[in-house]
Amino acid sequence: MEGQVLTALKPRPRDGFVNTGRVEEITARARCYLSVGYPVHFSGAAGTGKTSLALHLAASLGRPVILIHGDDEFGSSDLIGGNNGYHRSRIVDNFIHSVLKTEEDMRNQWVDNRLTTACRNGMTLVYDEFTRSRPEANNVLLAVLEERVLDLPHDSGGNSYLQVHPDFRAIFTSNPEEYAGVHKTQDALMDRMITIHLDHYDMPTEVAITAGRSGLDEEQARRIVLLVREIRRLGVRNYRPTIRACIMIARLTKVKEAHAAADDPVFSQICKDILCMETIKVTHEGQTLVPKKVDEYIRKTCGAPLVPGNGGNGGRPREKVALESTGADPG
Ligand SMILES: Nc1ncnc2c1ncn2[C@@H]1O[C@H](COP(=O)(O)OP(=O)(O)OP(=O)(O)O)[C@@H](O)[C@H]1O
Ligand SMILES: [Mg+2]
Repeated sequence: MEGQVLTALKPRPRDGFVNTGRVEEITARARCYLSVGYPVHFSGAAGTGKTSLALHLAASLGRPVILIHGDDEFGSSDLIGGNNGYHRSRIVDNFIHSVLKTEEDMRNQWVDNRLTTACRNGMTLVYDEFTRSRPEANNVLLAVLEERVLDLPHDSGGNSYLQVHPDFRAIFTSNPEEYAGVHKTQDALMDRMITIHLDHYDMPTEVAITAGRSGLDEEQARRIVLLVREIRRLGVRNYRPTIRACIMIARLTKVKEAHAAADDPVFSQICKDILCMETIKVTHEGQTLVPKKVDEYIRKTCGAPLVPGNGGNGGRPREKVALESTGADPG
């Protein structure tokens, strides 16, 4: 690799990011801790909005953003850099025209990796799912976060201690330790960051995200969120289905020109495909009860007719909705 170039992300608000009271409250707390210089860590189950929030928060700081995804294969050089590049110098000596003498000198050259780039230039580091990297790969962060010094190997050229730029900030995210592929992190590292535990968002935020991400009207988004929340309550310690399921159902409903209504077979099929998950183990005499439950909850949350004017009729013909709402047979 010659002259590897690292690209920082431009700090700009993310398209379609939904900012409700709950989101704003968490962001404000985290921004306050970062402004004093403390690293912030969003921890929570899958789909609780950690990565979106981390990127949104990072963009709001107005500095270039460096993004790292935790990886089990990482060694510390994947964070700080190594002698991965080479420097080639070539001397061409054709002083005597008939004799061409060339001499090449290949030397290893130190190349900064993402953590070093962020520390050197005062960027905002977003280290997503950092506990997927093995603890020893993350050891280098201990001195960065506490003494604000990055300890570089001696062969890095220049000073082997890099003073971390005063504008450097770090935001971490992680899934719970019981998740597959997640390492237990050293207490010393956790002790250096302020951890904000995220749970699923409140109902208004989930509805706003579902509507915003799909383009579906609010009433239909609300029905989908209610349905997903009912299914989420099945089983023990079950975090799925998440907001991702709400977004998937809503987007497919929109694309297929279906409606969040129990009498729409296309909508029912989409819900079953997305919500009948193998992770929810509710059985009766060895048979899974989930498809039955999904049907039952669709009737419960989406059984009422979609009323025009109450969040829109989702594109349904007005006459059909009016007939249904009076209970008349459309014929
Ligand atoms: N405030 C928000 N505005 C818009 N969309 C959001 C917001 N928060 C979360 N989402 C959407 O919800 C989904 C889940 O969010 P995200 O990926 O941030 O969760 P996560 O906690 O990082 O999940 P995982 O642990 O699986 O990585 C994504 O599709 C994301 O775009
Ligand atoms: Mg994530």
